[in-house]
Amino acid sequence: MLAIIGGSGLTRLANLDVQRRQVVRTPYGEPSGALTFGTIQGREVIFLARHGYGHTIPPHEVNYRANIWALHSKHVRDIVSVAAVGGIHADLTPGTLAVPDQIIDYTHGRKFTFLSSTDHSVTHVDFTFPYCESLRQRLLNAAAEAAERIVAGGTYAATQGPRLETAAEINRLERDGADMVGMTGMPEAALAREMGLCYAAIAVVVNYAAGRGGSAQGIRLADITAVSQEAMARVRNILDRLVVHDDD
Ligand code: HPA
Repeated sequence: MLAIIGGSGLTRLANLDVQRRQVVRTPYGEPSGALTFGTIQGREVIFLARHGYGHTIPPHEVNYRANIWALHSKHVRDIVSVAAVGGIHADLTPGTLAVPDQIIDYTHGRKFTFLSSTDHSVTHVDFTFPYCESLRQRLLNAAAEAAERIVAGGTYAATQGPRLETAAEINRLERDGADMVGMTGMPEAALAREMGLCYAAIAVVVNYAAGRGGSAQGIRLADITAVSQEAMARVRNILDRLVVHDDD
């Protein structure tokens, strides 16, 4: 089964026919909210709002382990994360959608692993390619079918938040090779890998990163909402196409 984790701007999926909601208890505490079970185009999916249904949980306080554990416990196989980002690369202007293929993790102090020494002998997971390639390709195909433009690839920098970055930090991220910056991509992707889940992301560029383009003088938070609302409608079109091929 496919799960969708919705980020800022996607606390609700308009194309989801909701059937039931279920609160899942986990060994890691409470997920961001009840799991929403429903169908899109007649196909079963589970939806979870990463920041809670009232958008109250900031990026550094999201219980990523509980969220991933809860989805895994419901036999989810694939997870599509929808995540708002700031665009660093010149091509990633506000409103652009992208399917990143790499991650650099700058977060700290988050509970980032299931593999603690009390439960496991020392275990490592391969994370060379942090996103599930087959799901990335399905997302790109779905976007093509929906005739929605989407950038194939890019490196996602995960920052700690909740504050946005300084202009100098964005310059550094660019030198490091980052194309976009967000606050929630990690440890979510790594936890999904530890659980053996197939995880990919649709990054929604909602602003120029700090010091770039229209954010040269600062990021205008008021502009983000309008961009995000319009872009999320396109994300929904892509998800509509994706689920149709879910059992292929
Ligand atoms: N930086 C970090 N996270 C973000 C941004 C940004 O500019 N925009 C949306 N999420």
